[in-house]
Amino acid sequence: MSTINAAASGQFKLGDFTINRLGFGAMRITGEGIWGQPANREACLATLRRLPELGVNFIDTADSYGPDVSEQLIHEALHPYKGLLIATKGGLTRHGPNIWQPVGRPEYLRQAVLLSLRKLGVEQIGLWQLHRIDAKVPAEEQFGAIAQMQKEGLIRHVGLSEVDVSQIKAAQKFFPVVSVQNMYNLVTRSHEAVVDYCTENNIGFIPWFPLASGDLAKPGSLLDTLAKQKGATPSQIALAWILKRSPVMLPIPGTSSVKHLEENVAAANVTLTDEEFAQLDQQGRKQQH
Ligand SMILES: NC(=O)c1ccc[n+]([C@@H]2O[C@H](COP(=O)([O-])OP(=O)(O)OC[C@H]3O[C@@H](n4cnc5c(N)ncnc54)[C@H](OP(=O)(O)O)[C@@H]3O)[C@@H](O)[C@H]2O)c1
Repeated sequence: MSTINAAASGQFKLGDFTINRLGFGAMRITGEGIWGQPANREACLATLRRLPELGVNFIDTADSYGPDVSEQLIHEALHPYKGLLIATKGGLTRHGPNIWQPVGRPEYLRQAVLLSLRKLGVEQIGLWQLHRIDAKVPAEEQFGAIAQMQKEGLIRHVGLSEVDVSQIKAAQKFFPVVSVQNMYNLVTRSHEAVVDYCTENNIGFIPWFPLASGDLAKPGSLLDTLAKQKGATPSQIALAWILKRSPVMLPIPGTSSVKHLEENVAAANVTLTDEEFAQLDQQGRKQQH
């Protein structure tokens, strides 16, 4: 086993999959604006192939990353995914770089799932997440379509993204919600109530944009000072803080380089004392945006 190993972050049971808590986000292996092929395709494939060697067995992607590019590269690098949980998402359409439009009509969600199955080369998606609830379509119709696909076995487990507690509860009437993926990091704290709900109900909370440590990473900041004291980087301290925030936290830092990947996975070995955690927590709340 490599000395850098995601297993050190602890394990979480997501449905019937046991994963190491520190995962990988595969949005950054695409072109500028999450559109088209990445600038360095070989580096992205090498980053993906390094994942299992580092014990990362939870990979997050979406049909809209590229679109298609991220799922196709994952297929090329890692199929048949022995011991890996590949989580994908659907429900956002793309109209150009950095443009994302939700479409939640049942027939579109069904097409998204069928195409992800084909691109990933699997018969069932281990975790399929509704990327956004489409405000133009009744939520019950979207949840009903997902429940039907789960019943048919096209998807094994269901997750949601960018939702509040009332939306999770509404979805739970249709299917068990095993994960919630919302934007969350030390200085982005608008989803504390969702983190608490997920913790109480043992639902995986997947904080996206986990490294946006903002001002806290500046020279002289608490994050920077702590990082120096512990022989770590500010990014590693930000990830260690997230991992300590709750046992259901499943951070998925994204990168297109093996170097950054190794640095991020090594955060699994960085531990914070309760006092360090509390200090960071307080600073983060003060500087939140
Ligand atoms: N559900 C949603 O709506 C949603 C939205 C956005 C993202 N996501 C998911 O969340 C994942 C993570 O979010 P994210 O990629 O936006 O944010 P992130 O992981 O916080 O940050 C990624 C950025 O940080 C850089 N980076 C990564 N590791 C680094 C390191 N050790 N040192 C310095 N820079 C580093 C990357 O560039 P390099 O490539 O140069 O390393 C990349 O530009 C995505 O991959 C995606 O799977 C979900």
